[in-house]
Amino acid sequence: MPTKTVLTYGTFDMFHIGHLKLLERLHKLGDKLIVAVSTDDFNDLKGKKTIIPYDQRAAIVKAIQYVDMVIPEERWEQKVEDIKKYNVDIFAMGHDWEGKFDSLQELCEVVYLPRTSGISTTDIKQQLNKISEINIQDLNRAFEILKRLKSDFE
Ligand code: CTP
Repeated sequence: MPTKTVLTYGTFDMFHIGHLKLLERLHKLGDKLIVAVSTDDFNDLKGKKTIIPYDQRAAIVKAIQYVDMVIPEERWEQKVEDIKKYNVDIFAMGHDWEGKFDSLQELCEVVYLPRTSGISTTDIKQQLNKISEINIQDLNRAFEILKRLKSDFE
């Protein structure tokens, strides 16, 4: 029986449960899952700032049991080449990309999968920023108390 190859693209920064569930769903679509992970240079081009460097993001995705192969995503235009090079049967993305890659339907099946609600790398970064703001407020309060204590002793 011929192998059914599935291909997807993504940044996968600060790997989270939404990423894991997507990879699990993609794995169930076929026999071989190829994940193209966006390189740091490509993310710069997209205006996306990552916390985790490419080598580590790629290593984490590669270690997931649902993933058979990781390749770098370096350019917007590489999708057609990749589909041909790896004999891809299904090109699949999260539904945040719904309709964006329909032109690839002449080469293979194009599927958009539902995202896991309530989590994204952007959300995690925003939560971390909030924690940093709280810490700064605490430090400012402690500083004010120390200043008052110092003036009491003078
Ligand atoms: N994804 C998902 N469910 C989520 C978050 C992401 O299914 N809750 C999917 C996306 O649809 C995409 C893949 O995971 O196909 C990689 O997404 P990526 O953009 O790297 O992750 P996000 O968490 O969406 O990152 P950001 O907030 O920076 O866009």
